[in-house]
Amino acid sequence: MTCASAPGKIILFGEHAVVYDRPAIAVPLPSIRATVELDALPPNEDGGVLVRSPDLNISFLLKEVGRKNPLALAVLLTFEALQVTHPANMRITITSDIPMSAGLGSGAAVTVAIVRGICRHLSLNLSESRISEIAFEVERLHHGTPSGVDNTVISYEMPVYFRRGAPVEKFNVKTPFTLVLGHCGISTPTAEVVGKVHAAWETDEARYEKAFDAIGRIVDLAYGALSRGDVELLGPLMDQNQILLREIGVSCPELDELIESAKQAGATGAKLSGAGQGGFMIALVMPETVESVKQSLREAGATEILQTRVQ
Ligand code: PMV
Repeated sequence: MTCASAPGKIILFGEHAVVYDRPAIAVPLPSIRATVELDALPPNEDGGVLVRSPDLNISFLLKEVGRKNPLALAVLLTFEALQVTHPANMRITITSDIPMSAGLGSGAAVTVAIVRGICRHLSLNLSESRISEIAFEVERLHHGTPSGVDNTVISYEMPVYFRRGAPVEKFNVKTPFTLVLGHCGISTPTAEVVGKVHAAWETDEARYEKAFDAIGRIVDLAYGALSRGDVELLGPLMDQNQILLREIGVSCPELDELIESAKQAGATGAKLSGAGQGGFMIALVMPETVESVKQSLREAGATEILQTRVQ
């Protein structure tokens, strides 16, 4: 049996504006992962590649589904990239700890885990950038017009300063810090939120462009702060990014309430993360405020609370 996995991700700064060619900063969430197990199956005529996700009650033979299925597309694109035209019979079993439709990149992580798993199973190699391209293709099925930030940070498994069309900038966080994540209990598909922003942008381009420019400036300041180890500046920058996210209409009362409660409990900054209108918010905490922020989020109705060290 061969195993491979890929992490979840958090967008620290710049979601949505990144779709409009501004930069964004994202970090991997290494403790929460999508995992695949691959087993060779005996050669026989009825076989082929069996793809299963027991948690989601999914099981299909690759030859029986088309490229519209994201799991099948991930497998097919990997074989194509590896120039494997007649793969030996195998079973690919997918599991994931990453909450779905929550802004933590579960779709891209599943794709990257599949690609890594097939490469390992066949003792072949693909570069990180090729893996990222495959994950981008699959993301297009999910989201229509993804910026590419999710597939990039998950494939490289490093903090990234990402801007569409520019070379990927991987970087190291100079001073590690802790984030508490709270799920607000509702979720809206990324494509829907991105679509609403696009419709609003079409009706008032100047206002939205101005907000995206302001978000881009925050991202650049945050990049400087992360590279220098200036954790103190990150909190206020998160708060400012959240104000702009609210302005462009991607927050919601449930997220606002969690963000407010985290701030009340001593978080130095808090914002939604990912597409918004549901999913997770993130709060920057110090060792002395971790527990009070978690408690406060619980009381404010967070349905799931996670903690991660960004380093
Ligand atoms: O919620 P997620 O993990 O799908 O992140 C979406 C991030 C957006 O900037 C809103 C869209 C994108 O493609 O970058």
